Amino acid sequence: MDKGAPNIAILGAGVVGLTVADILQKDLGKANITIIADKFKEDTTSAVAAGIFCPGSSFRGATREITHKWIDDSWYYWQDILKSSEASNAGIMELSTYIFARDNYELTKNPLLEHLVSNYRAAREDELKLCGPGWKYGSYFTTVKIGCDRYLPWVERRFVDKGGRIVSGKVDSFTSLRQYDLVFNCTGLGAKYLCNDFDIFPLRGQVIRVKAPWLKTAFFCDYDTYIIPGMDGVTTLGGVRQHDNSNLQVCKYDAHAIWQQCCEILPDLRKAEIIGHNVGLRPYRVPVRVEPEVIGGVKVVHCYGHGANGVMSSPGTALNAVKIGYDYLKSNIRNKL
Ligand SMILES: Cc1cc2nc3c(=O)[nH]c(=O)nc-3n(C[C@H](O)[C@H](O)[C@H](O)COP(=O)(O)OP(=O)(O)OC[C@H]3O[C@@H](n4cnc5c(N)ncnc54)[C@H](O)[C@@H]3O)c2cc1C
Ligand SMILES: *[C@@H]1O[C@H](CO)[C@@H](O)[C@H](O)[C@H]1NC(C)=O
Ligand SMILES: *[C@@H]1O[C@H](CO)[C@@H](O)[C@H](O)[C@H]1NC(C)=O
Repeated sequence: MDKGAPNIAILGAGVVGLTVADILQKDLGKANITIIADKFKEDTTSAVAAGIFCPGSSFRGATREITHKWIDDSWYYWQDILKSSEASNAGIMELSTYIFARDNYELTKNPLLEHLVSNYRAAREDELKLCGPGWKYGSYFTTVKIGCDRYLPWVERRFVDKGGRIVSGKVDSFTSLRQYDLVFNCTGLGAKYLCNDFDIFPLRGQVIRVKAPWLKTAFFCDYDTYIIPGMDGVTTLGGVRQHDNSNLQVCKYDAHAIWQQCCEILPDLRKAEIIGHNVGLRPYRVPVRVEPEVIGGVKVVHCYGHGANGVMSSPGTALNAVKIGYDYLKSNIRNKL
């Protein structure tokens, strides 16, 4: 490491923190970069996510342009990995997806996604029957899925192999961060407790993971019930969205409701072996916060509050955060001269 190379810390080792670290390391080869977090890999919220690229309508940046740029940049970032020989190691795959609705066709459209995928179209009559009776409207498209069970270890290893440092620990105060020229705040919901951001709150989710190797297609039925296959024959069944609920325990009533709804949609699921139940608290904030701030004399770039879409949108927001950080550092160097 060069003497005088910038000394940078990233708080958080979920999908957002690790993706910021990866992009930063590519851009600033000579920086001394440290990730600090109290939870890693399977213990993060990111590991609970299905990781499908299907932005919800409440996902938002500060402006419409920013929202679109985050989503588009993210899409091309995942496409690059998807087309590389690393796709499977990184847990990135293509996934054909149906969205079905009972009440109207608009509910199955996705204005943030339609221009990116090549094949967004209305479902045909025969396709509307795939998930049992009653689905009057539907759309079909091919998107990507990011499996955090593989992506998090993959990107973390890449970071360490290129000289990144990882420190395990909880950050309670800024005094411990004074040694850094720049700090990225990628603490997800942790931001709420670190120092009272009242705009962020938990949006509780629960899923069932099953072994269903025959499933190759994802289904959203009126959005809140979903069946999302991934690698290794593992499918994620969901879900719930409970506002301001911080309970990390598996709720048997939620599990029962998810199971019944998903089996009604695809009765063959009753044959699937249940691997486990998972709960995650989505760090919900509108808009997602990507902006600089000086706190206690430390230059901080915030990147948190990705709600229900943090896996798919992590690269776009990370590119934005890194650009802000880069400008911040340059102004720092000038100040020092
Ligand atoms: C059921 C469910 C399904 C989902 N499905 C999808 C999906 O299909 N697609 C999608 O894009 N998104 C999905 N999401 C949303 C996604 O999981 C989140 O948006 C995303 O994981 C947020 O990532 P993060 O890195 O900000 O947070 P986290 O993964 O929670 O990571 C936060 C990190 O910060 C660290 N940290 C926090 N506070 C401190 C502190 N004080 N000191 C040190 N370290 C700290 C933690 O240890 C951790 O490493 C889903 C979520 C759930 C719950
Ligand atoms: C990198 O940063 C850490 C944390 O500030 C510091 O302890 C270490 O000495 C730095 N390494 C180099 C080579 O500058
Ligand atoms: C991260 O953001 C939250 C919310 O604003 C803030 O309270 C906390 O102090 C920040 N942490 C760091 C290290 O910047």
